[in-house]
Amino acid sequence: MSLLEVEHLRIWDGGSGAVLVPDSSFRLSQGECLAIVGESGSGKSLTCKALMRLNRPGIRQTGRVALNGVDLTGLSDKEMRPYRGKRMCMIMQNGMRAFDPSRPVGAYLLEALSLHGDWSPSEMVAGLSAAMMSVGLSDPSAVMKRYPHELSGGMLQRTMIALAIVLEPDVIIADEPTTALDAVTQYEVVEQFVALRGRIGSAIVFVSHDLGVVRRIADEVLVMKDGVIVEQGGTDAIFGGASHPYTRYLVSSKEALRSRYLQLMGGTRIAEG
Ligand SMILES: Nc1ncnc2c1ncn2[C@@H]1O[C@H](COP(=O)(O)OP(=O)(O)O)[C@@H](O)[C@H]1O
Ligand SMILES: [Mg+2]
Repeated sequence: MSLLEVEHLRIWDGGSGAVLVPDSSFRLSQGECLAIVGESGSGKSLTCKALMRLNRPGIRQTGRVALNGVDLTGLSDKEMRPYRGKRMCMIMQNGMRAFDPSRPVGAYLLEALSLHGDWSPSEMVAGLSAAMMSVGLSDPSAVMKRYPHELSGGMLQRTMIALAIVLEPDVIIADEPTTALDAVTQYEVVEQFVALRGRIGSAIVFVSHDLGVVRRIADEVLVMKDGVIVEQGGTDAIFGGASHPYTRYLVSSKEALRSRYLQLMGGTRIAEG
Protein backbone atom coordinates (compact mmCIF):
# COMPACT_ATOMS: atom_id res chain seq x y z
CA MET A 1 0.00 0.00 0.00
CA SER A 2 1.29 3.47 -0.86
CA LEU A 3 1.38 6.23 1.74
CA LEU A 4 -0.76 8.54 -0.37
CA GLU A 5 -3.15 7.27 -3.02
CA VAL A 6 -5.04 9.55 -5.34
CA GLU A 7 -7.62 7.93 -7.58
CA HIS A 8 -9.82 9.60 -10.16
CA LEU A 9 -9.50 13.02 -8.64
CA ARG A 10 -11.87 15.40 -10.41
CA ILE A 11 -11.98 19.10 -9.62
CA TRP A 12 -14.49 21.58 -10.99
CA ASP A 13 -15.81 25.06 -10.43
CA GLY A 14 -19.18 24.63 -8.71
CA GLY A 15 -20.33 28.04 -10.00
CA SER A 16 -19.67 27.78 -13.71
CA GLY A 17 -19.46 23.98 -13.86
CA ALA A 18 -16.09 24.24 -15.64
CA VAL A 19 -14.01 21.09 -15.16
CA LEU A 20 -10.52 22.12 -14.08
CA VAL A 21 -8.93 18.70 -13.42
CA PRO A 22 -10.92 15.92 -15.10
CA ASP A 23 -9.41 12.67 -13.82
CA SER A 24 -6.04 12.38 -12.04
CA SER A 25 -4.57 9.31 -10.39
CA PHE A 26 -1.16 8.94 -8.79
CA ARG A 27 0.47 7.54 -5.69
CA LEU A 28 3.32 8.31 -3.38
CA SER A 29 5.34 5.93 -1.20
CA GLN A 30 6.95 6.76 2.10
CA GLY A 31 10.09 8.84 1.67
CA GLU A 32 9.47 9.35 -2.03
CA CYS A 33 9.47 12.69 -3.81
CA LEU A 34 6.97 13.26 -6.59
CA ALA A 35 7.40 16.42 -8.65
CA ILE A 36 4.47 18.02 -10.44
CA VAL A 37 5.55 20.15 -13.39
CA GLY A 38 3.60 22.06 -16.00
CA GLU A 39 2.94 25.57 -17.18
CA SER A 40 1.08 28.14 -15.17
CA GLY A 41 -2.65 27.35 -15.08
CA SER A 42 -2.22 23.62 -15.65
CA GLY A 43 -3.90 22.66 -12.36
CA LYS A 44 -0.90 22.03 -10.10
CA SER A 45 -2.06 24.19 -7.18
CA LEU A 46 -5.66 22.97 -7.42
CA THR A 47 -4.38 19.38 -7.26
CA CYS A 48 -2.17 20.09 -4.23
CA LYS A 49 -4.91 21.86 -2.33
CA ALA A 50 -7.39 19.09 -3.19
CA LEU A 51 -5.16 16.58 -1.38
CA MET A 52 -5.79 18.45 1.87
CA ARG A 53 -9.21 19.73 0.83
CA LEU A 54 -8.00 23.30 1.06
CA ASN A 55 -9.51 24.65 -2.14
CA ARG A 56 -12.03 27.41 -1.51
CA PRO A 57 -15.66 26.29 -1.09
CA GLY A 58 -16.75 27.07 -4.68
CA ILE A 59 -14.24 24.52 -5.95
CA ARG A 60 -15.65 20.98 -5.79
CA GLN A 61 -13.87 17.66 -5.95
CA THR A 62 -14.63 13.94 -6.17
CA GLY A 63 -12.40 10.88 -6.21
CA ARG A 64 -10.36 9.14 -3.57
CA VAL A 65 -7.49 10.68 -1.62
CA ALA A 66 -6.23 8.15 0.92
CA LEU A 67 -3.45 8.55 3.46
CA ASN A 68 -2.23 5.22 4.87
CA GLY A 69 -5.38 3.59 3.55
CA VAL A 70 -7.75 6.08 5.21
CA ASP A 71 -9.94 7.84 2.67
CA LEU A 72 -9.83 11.53 3.58
CA THR A 73 -12.54 12.59 1.16
CA GLY A 74 -15.40 11.47 3.40
CA LEU A 75 -14.08 13.16 6.55
CA SER A 76 -15.77 16.20 8.05
CA ASP A 77 -13.75 19.37 8.51
CA LYS A 78 -13.27 18.50 12.17
CA GLU A 79 -12.14 14.95 11.39
CA MET A 80 -9.78 16.35 8.77
CA ARG A 81 -8.07 18.67 11.24
CA PRO A 82 -5.59 16.17 12.74
CA TYR A 83 -4.44 15.30 9.21
CA ARG A 84 -3.59 18.89 8.33
CA GLY A 85 -0.34 20.04 9.81
CA LYS A 86 0.93 17.00 11.60
CA ARG A 87 0.27 14.26 9.02
CA MET A 88 0.21 16.41 5.88
CA CYS A 89 1.77 19.82 5.73
CA MET A 90 1.36 22.21 2.85
CA ILE A 91 3.74 24.96 1.89
CA MET A 92 1.48 27.26 -0.06
CA GLN A 93 2.50 29.05 -3.23
CA ASN A 94 1.06 32.27 -1.82
CA GLY A 95 2.68 32.66 1.60
CA MET A 96 0.62 35.71 2.44
CA ARG A 97 -2.64 33.80 2.29
CA ALA A 98 -1.35 30.95 4.45
CA PHE A 99 -0.89 33.11 7.53
CA ASP A 100 -3.37 34.92 9.75
CA PRO A 101 -2.97 38.60 8.73
CA SER A 102 -4.11 39.88 12.13
CA ARG A 103 -1.39 38.24 14.21
CA PRO A 104 2.39 38.23 14.30
CA VAL A 105 3.89 35.28 12.44
CA GLY A 106 5.36 33.83 15.65
CA ALA A 107 1.96 33.63 17.39
CA TYR A 108 0.56 31.72 14.44
CA LEU A 109 3.53 29.33 14.33
CA LEU A 110 3.43 28.60 18.05
CA GLU A 111 -0.29 27.92 17.91
CA ALA A 112 0.20 25.53 14.98
CA LEU A 113 2.86 23.69 16.95
CA SER A 114 0.83 23.52 20.16
CA LEU A 115 -2.07 22.01 18.20
CA HIS A 116 0.08 19.25 16.79
CA GLY A 117 2.55 18.27 19.47
CA ASP A 118 3.23 18.34 23.17
CA TRP A 119 6.28 20.56 23.21
CA SER A 120 6.80 23.11 25.97
CA PRO A 121 6.78 26.78 24.86
CA SER A 122 10.55 27.02 25.18
CA GLU A 123 11.04 23.83 23.16
CA MET A 124 8.78 25.24 20.44
CA VAL A 125 10.69 28.50 20.25
CA ALA A 126 14.04 26.71 20.23
CA GLY A 127 12.91 24.21 17.58
CA LEU A 128 11.44 26.92 15.36
CA SER A 129 14.49 29.14 15.69
CA ALA A 130 16.85 26.35 14.68
CA ALA A 131 14.62 25.40 11.74
CA MET A 132 14.32 29.02 10.61
CA MET A 133 18.06 29.49 10.68
CA SER A 134 18.51 26.30 8.66
CA VAL A 135 16.43 27.83 5.83
CA GLY A 136 18.36 31.09 5.87
CA LEU A 137 16.21 33.21 8.21
CA SER A 138 19.09 34.46 10.28
CA ASP A 139 17.12 36.43 12.88
CA PRO A 140 14.21 34.17 13.90
CA SER A 141 12.98 36.27 16.82
CA ALA A 142 12.69 39.37 14.60
CA VAL A 143 10.75 37.38 11.98
CA MET A 144 8.38 35.97 14.61
CA LYS A 145 7.46 39.46 15.80
CA ARG A 146 6.44 40.61 12.33
CA TYR A 147 2.98 40.53 10.76
CA PRO A 148 2.68 38.57 7.50
CA HIS A 149 2.38 41.74 5.35
CA GLU A 150 5.69 42.96 6.75
CA LEU A 151 7.58 39.97 5.31
CA SER A 152 8.39 39.12 1.70
CA GLY A 153 6.77 36.15 -0.06
CA GLY A 154 10.10 34.32 0.04
CA MET A 155 10.45 34.85 3.79
CA LEU A 156 6.91 33.60 4.43
CA GLN A 157 7.59 30.51 2.36
CA ARG A 158 10.77 29.82 4.26
CA THR A 159 8.87 30.28 7.50
CA MET A 160 6.36 27.63 6.38
CA ILE A 161 9.21 25.31 5.46
CA ALA A 162 10.65 25.84 8.96
CA LEU A 163 7.29 24.90 10.46
CA ALA A 164 7.27 21.70 8.37
CA ILE A 165 10.79 20.90 9.57
CA VAL A 166 9.61 21.06 13.18
CA LEU A 167 6.33 19.19 12.55
CA GLU A 168 8.01 16.34 10.65
CA PRO A 169 4.83 15.35 8.79
CA ASP A 170 4.32 12.13 6.81
CA VAL A 171 3.68 14.12 3.65
CA ILE A 172 4.91 17.58 2.72
CA ILE A 173 3.16 19.29 -0.15
CA ALA A 174 5.35 22.09 -1.41
CA ASP A 175 3.77 24.33 -4.05
CA GLU A 176 6.58 26.12 -5.89
CA PRO A 177 8.54 26.60 -2.67
CA THR A 178 11.59 28.06 -4.36
CA THR A 179 10.06 30.39 -6.96
CA ALA A 180 10.25 33.54 -4.85
CA LEU A 181 13.82 32.90 -3.69
CA ASP A 182 17.19 33.97 -5.04
CA ALA A 183 19.50 31.28 -6.43
CA VAL A 184 21.59 30.80 -3.29
CA THR A 185 18.57 30.52 -1.00
CA GLN A 186 16.87 28.24 -3.52
CA TYR A 187 19.80 25.92 -3.28
CA GLU A 188 19.72 25.99 0.53
CA VAL A 189 15.98 25.34 0.64
CA VAL A 190 16.21 22.41 -1.77
CA GLU A 191 19.00 20.95 0.35
CA GLN A 192 16.73 21.33 3.38
CA PHE A 193 14.05 19.27 1.66
CA VAL A 194 16.57 16.60 0.77
CA ALA A 195 17.81 16.55 4.37
CA LEU A 196 14.31 16.44 5.80
CA ARG A 197 13.52 13.47 3.68
CA GLY A 198 16.68 11.72 4.79
CA ARG A 199 16.08 12.54 8.45
CA ILE A 200 12.43 11.69 8.91
CA GLY A 201 11.47 9.94 5.68
CA SER A 202 8.76 12.46 4.77
CA ALA A 203 7.20 11.92 1.39
CA ILE A 204 7.19 15.08 -0.68
CA VAL A 205 4.94 16.43 -3.41
CA PHE A 206 7.07 19.10 -5.00
CA VAL A 207 5.58 21.52 -7.51
CA SER A 208 8.15 23.43 -9.51
CA HIS A 209 8.79 25.21 -12.75
CA ASP A 210 12.47 24.62 -12.28
CA LEU A 211 13.40 21.38 -13.97
CA GLY A 212 16.94 21.59 -12.58
CA VAL A 213 15.55 21.47 -9.06
CA VAL A 214 13.14 18.70 -10.03
CA ARG A 215 15.98 16.62 -11.38
CA ARG A 216 17.88 17.08 -8.12
CA ILE A 217 15.06 16.19 -5.78
CA ALA A 218 12.38 14.06 -7.46
CA ASP A 219 12.10 10.28 -7.83
CA GLU A 220 8.99 10.50 -9.95
CA VAL A 221 7.68 13.26 -12.18
CA LEU A 222 4.12 14.00 -13.14
CA VAL A 223 3.60 16.36 -16.08
CA MET A 224 0.35 18.35 -16.20
CA LYS A 225 -1.16 20.24 -19.10
CA ASP A 226 -4.61 21.86 -19.04
CA GLY A 227 -5.61 19.91 -15.92
CA VAL A 228 -4.57 16.56 -17.38
CA ILE A 229 -1.61 14.39 -16.37
CA VAL A 230 -0.03 13.90 -19.79
CA GLU A 231 2.91 11.86 -18.57
CA GLN A 232 4.26 10.32 -15.38
CA GLY A 233 7.33 8.25 -14.71
CA GLY A 234 10.74 8.01 -13.07
CA THR A 235 12.79 11.22 -13.15
CA ASP A 236 15.58 9.72 -15.26
CA ALA A 237 13.12 8.31 -17.77
CA ILE A 238 11.32 11.64 -18.07
CA PHE A 239 14.50 13.63 -18.58
CA GLY A 240 16.18 10.97 -20.67
CA GLY A 241 13.43 10.12 -23.10
CA ALA A 242 10.03 11.64 -22.50
CA SER A 243 7.37 10.15 -24.71
CA HIS A 244 4.86 12.99 -24.69
CA PRO A 245 5.67 15.92 -27.01
CA TYR A 246 4.72 18.41 -24.28
CA THR A 247 7.26 16.93 -21.85
CA ARG A 248 9.90 16.99 -24.57
CA TYR A 249 9.04 20.64 -25.14
CA LEU A 250 9.45 21.44 -21.41
CA VAL A 251 12.76 19.59 -21.22
CA SER A 252 14.09 21.14 -24.43
CA SER A 253 13.17 24.69 -23.37
CA LYS A 254 15.10 24.06 -20.18
CA GLU A 255 18.09 22.84 -22.22
CA ALA A 256 17.84 25.88 -24.50
CA LEU A 257 17.89 28.23 -21.50
CA ARG A 258 20.86 26.39 -20.12
CA SER A 259 22.86 26.66 -23.35
CA ARG A 260 22.03 30.35 -23.60
CA TYR A 261 23.24 30.79 -20.03
CA LEU A 262 26.44 28.91 -20.79
CA GLN A 263 27.00 31.12 -23.84
CA LEU A 264 26.48 34.27 -21.79
CA MET A 265 28.84 33.05 -19.08
CA GLY A 266 31.41 32.18 -21.74
CA GLY A 267 32.19 28.74 -20.38
CA THR A 268 30.82 25.55 -18.98
CA ARG A 269 32.10 25.46 -15.43
CA ILE A 270 29.70 27.78 -13.64
CA ALA A 271 26.48 26.18 -14.79
CA GLU A 272 27.50 22.63 -14.02
CA GLY A 273 26.17 22.63 -10.44
N1 LIG B 1 -10.76 29.50 -7.41
C1 LIG B 1 -10.86 29.22 -8.73
N2 LIG B 1 -12.02 29.33 -9.40
C2 LIG B 1 -12.11 29.05 -10.71
N3 LIG B 1 -11.09 28.63 -11.45
C3 LIG B 1 -9.90 28.49 -10.84
C4 LIG B 1 -9.71 28.76 -9.45
N4 LIG B 1 -8.43 28.54 -9.13
C5 LIG B 1 -7.82 28.15 -10.27
N5 LIG B 1 -8.71 28.12 -11.29
C6 LIG B 1 -8.40 27.76 -12.69
O1 LIG B 1 -7.88 26.45 -12.70
C7 LIG B 1 -6.75 26.36 -13.56
C8 LIG B 1 -5.59 25.76 -12.81
O2 LIG B 1 -5.16 26.64 -11.78
P1 LIG B 1 -3.94 26.30 -10.83
O3 LIG B 1 -4.12 24.96 -10.23
O4 LIG B 1 -3.80 27.44 -9.89
O5 LIG B 1 -2.73 26.28 -11.86
P2 LIG B 1 -1.15 26.14 -11.60
O6 LIG B 1 -0.92 26.00 -10.14
O7 LIG B 1 -0.73 24.94 -12.39
O8 LIG B 1 -0.55 27.39 -12.15
C9 LIG B 1 -6.49 27.75 -14.09
O9 LIG B 1 -6.96 27.80 -15.41
C10 LIG B 1 -7.29 28.67 -13.21
O10 LIG B 1 -7.84 29.70 -13.96
MG1 LIG C 1 0.13 27.20 -8.84
